[in-house]
Amino acid sequence: MIIAVDGPSGSGKSSTARGVATRLGLSYLDTGAMYRAVTWSVLEHGLDLTDVTAVAERARAVDLGISTDPGLAHFTADGSDVTEAIRDPRISENVSKVATNLDVRKELIRRQREIIDAAQPGGGIVVEGRDIATVVATDAELKVLLTADQEARMARRKAELAAGSVTAEQLRDQIVRRDADDATVSQFEVASDGAVTIDSTHLTLEEVVDVISRLAKE
Ligand code: CDP
Repeated sequence: MIIAVDGPSGSGKSSTARGVATRLGLSYLDTGAMYRAVTWSVLEHGLDLTDVTAVAERARAVDLGISTDPGLAHFTADGSDVTEAIRDPRISENVSKVATNLDVRKELIRRQREIIDAAQPGGGIVVEGRDIATVVATDAELKVLLTADQEARMARRKAELAAGSVTAEQLRDQIVRRDADDATVSQFEVASDGAVTIDSTHLTLEEVVDVISRLAKE
């Protein structure tokens, strides 16, 4: 079974997808972490983010270690533990530049499909991202588009960041700009065929996990 959870930044999709995978005993794939890990590697190699050829080459070359255990967020890039480094504002600010490189997308989508296939004998996987239902796993049994209004998304992001590290203004700019960049390649605000849209603005994490887990069992 494949459950696709797509949505914009701060919609709660990571916690939700991880919660659903844990509840149902499935594997879990955070595709955003893969784009972040490639961005980390690009910066580590001192590459120019606008050099599309060099960035795409890096995406093809980097050895990524992506945990699919919902209880263990652990990511490596060329042997370095990047679990924390990929959440750095430096990565958040630059990841869309890497994710809008079409050759990077092609490479990561290929790798994501391999991970999804490998998880099938174990019962299945919950995959979260921007383009899972529309591109990566169009055959997913359950497709969820998670939304939340901008204020709620900002509040959630702010709570996740170290207190005082960014101002509300900076955060708003970052979210709005990243959404705009991301929308040029993946129409994450458009529900794909057969997708269920869940607005999480007024729901708790537990409630969203309940709804999706129930739908998965139908
Ligand atoms: O947690 P948040 O939603 O802020 O971001 P994320 O899921 O970690 O994804 C980081 C970035 O990776 C997004 O802003 C997109 O630029 C990119 N991404 C993508 O293009 N396609 C995906 N399937 C997942 C992420």
